Amino acid sequence: MTPPAAVQAKSLIRALHGEVQARPNFWFMRQAGRYLPEYRALRSKAPDFVRLCLTPELATEITLQPLQRFAMDAAILFSDILMVPYGLGVKLEFREGEGPVLEPISTIADIERLQAAADRFLSMVAPVFETVRQVSLQLPLDTALIGFAGAPWTVACYMIEGRGSRDFAKVRKLAFAEPALFQQLMDLLVDVTSRYLNAQIEAGAEAVQLFDTWAGVLPDVEFDKWAIAPMREIVERVRSRHPAVPIIAFPRGAGLHYVRYASETGVECVGLDSSVPPDWAARFLQPIAAVQGNLDPLLLVVGGAAMEKAAHRILEALGHGPFVFNLGHGIVPETPPENVARLSALIRAWHHRHT
Ligand code: CP3
Repeated sequence: MTPPAAVQAKSLIRALHGEVQARPNFWFMRQAGRYLPEYRALRSKAPDFVRLCLTPELATEITLQPLQRFAMDAAILFSDILMVPYGLGVKLEFREGEGPVLEPISTIADIERLQAAADRFLSMVAPVFETVRQVSLQLPLDTALIGFAGAPWTVACYMIEGRGSRDFAKVRKLAFAEPALFQQLMDLLVDVTSRYLNAQIEAGAEAVQLFDTWAGVLPDVEFDKWAIAPMREIVERVRSRHPAVPIIAFPRGAGLHYVRYASETGVECVGLDSSVPPDWAARFLQPIAAVQGNLDPLLLVVGGAAMEKAAHRILEALGHGPFVFNLGHGIVPETPPENVARLSALIRAWHHRHT
């Protein structure tokens, strides 16, 4: 149901659309997860991580856990970027201490098999949309629900490699050596990812984030081809159906490409990794898009004065423009929850002063 026009959008949605706020909104990537004892308790009840993502009652509870402790301005759907390959019929397993393991693809026959599975994609991942519906019914009034997907390049990295990697050499070699074949995989991922995000929005997601965790391994020409171009296409396909829903993209490691990325994809907000200097982002990015970021997640592990000083520096640099406070990458498992509470209180207490 669309709210009547007189009802103001939630605070986070306004921030993503460019509103400068007295008190910046915040949420944290991987805010649900292993650093929370209540997550570990539920996780031990599910047979495996994929089942957990596909069990709406559990996924809903996990999505809401961090809000109960820290009252962030947004919930992020609890799921994983690898549910897209799963929905295309790729065998997927999360192994303890090893991370995700997928059946790797390498030939045109593999890609044709995936293309043939694309029609069934939305029904394969249907429980994810049920989670979105359940979460949106239980959210606090001014808390927004963020849906998400992996960007095509990052999802392709795991599909080709079959697992995580330090430099994703195999997928880069394939993209250089067989661009036509790789393009077919990317076209398929653009199509299913757009439909996946539209379905999350139709179930109740109020903003969406695309994680391009491995964008930074691409040289410049390929960055245009495999990071910017597919994102622009997804933005068009989501925006044409849901023009009011803001899109956040997190092209981790984009470095010098951040400015062109923001202007050429047309996203409402870009997520900054921790290497981006906040004052540089204020000067060159905030005039084009809202920004989100970018405290080093290890400062959240360390806490204390080091964390507080760095967080204030980010707030001072970015809090006077369109901004959502976040980390530069996800919360890591050894993070003490008390530090997350401390950081949340610090952000809540900071106020933008008009000068
Ligand atoms: O942010 C959130 O709280 C929402 C949930 C979420 C998860 N993964 C849960 C998860 C989101 C948004 C993701 C995104 C994701 N998944 C990315 C992009 C962001 C990033 O962190 O770079 C990537 C690359 C993945 C793929 C993935 N999933 C890997 C490499 C791993 C193993 C490493 C690890 O941290 O364990 C996962 C597993 C995963 N995804 C866990 C969680 C809570 C841990 C699984 C467990 O409980 O055993």
